[in-house]
Amino acid sequence: MSLITELESLIPNLQAELVRAFSLQDLEQARVAWLGRKGSLARIMARLPELPPADRPAAGQKANEVKTRLTELVDQRKAELESLEGARRMAGFDASLPGRLPWQGSKHPTTLVIEEICGIFQGLGYEVVSGPEVETDYYNFEALNMPPEHPARDMQDTLYITERVLMRTHTSPVQARSMKSRKPPLAVIVPGKVYRRDSDLTHTPMFHQIEGLLVGKDVSMAHLRGTLTVFLRGVFGAETRVRFRPSFFPFTEPSAEADISCCICNGKGHTGEDACRVCKGTGWVEILGCGMVDPAVFDSVGYDPEEVTGFAFGLGVERVAMLKYGIGDLRMFFENDARFLAQF
Ligand code: DAH
Repeated sequence: MSLITELESLIPNLQAELVRAFSLQDLEQARVAWLGRKGSLARIMARLPELPPADRPAAGQKANEVKTRLTELVDQRKAELESLEGARRMAGFDASLPGRLPWQGSKHPTTLVIEEICGIFQGLGYEVVSGPEVETDYYNFEALNMPPEHPARDMQDTLYITERVLMRTHTSPVQARSMKSRKPPLAVIVPGKVYRRDSDLTHTPMFHQIEGLLVGKDVSMAHLRGTLTVFLRGVFGAETRVRFRPSFFPFTEPSAEADISCCICNGKGHTGEDACRVCKGTGWVEILGCGMVDPAVFDSVGYDPEEVTGFAFGLGVERVAMLKYGIGDLRMFFENDARFLAQF
């Protein structure tokens, strides 16, 4: 066998050995046997002077190539063994043990508000439900008494998927979905993401709402006022005053907007000498839309408006969080700045 052929055969020989090396120790032994000072490569190279001088440079070059390749093979196997070693250590690791470091991090203010509000309504016997964020025109608008040409659709700059499928602009479609899949009486609370083609300092294309719906016999505006007052005082403090102003929504009749006494200036309208920036000096801030479910909505879900009545409401979660925690800038909710998030 020529010296060159012998050199070349070192490569497959080492490869065969390496697949049997299962530890870093095995690997080191193989490395020494092939590449060490007294290893196979060195022993072949020791015979270089036996070659005719003209053949030596080619053999020397081949030896270098082989050495590079052998070193690569050893390094490659080393990396494999190291990751195997890691996996083995993992296999012996009990993932059910508690962590050694105290839990770090905090819930996002949006999550905190959703949990708090849903918790209050669960305490009142409401069921937490959800619906799809990609919604049909039918549930988002039509079933809620907003037929195709209804001007109220313009109030909600919609993001369309196709002509009849869209990103829901509010959580109200879950009203219709809940009624269609249940028989009255029912009480549901619906947190979720909603989408509008809107983006500036005080609007983001995605934000969160919570919808509430209660349907039964003889449900009245008094129930609506009582429930929402209890809820708003639960969130903003027992001293909070609540007022209802007439408003309009296509899916409620009558409709109202609820205001709370400003939790920044305690309803005084000013902080020290200055007019309160949050309530713009009025002492009140708008907090939610609500009303008695419109009979047309009952009709479209197959409930008999002569038999049942109900109330509904919807509110923006980020808005509640801003008021509750005194957050001045909507963008902070979405920047994922750990210094902001760690405060909650
Ligand atoms: N869906 C309305 C909106 O996004 C909010 C709303 C108003 C919901 C009145 C209701 C309601 O359930 O009764 O602007």
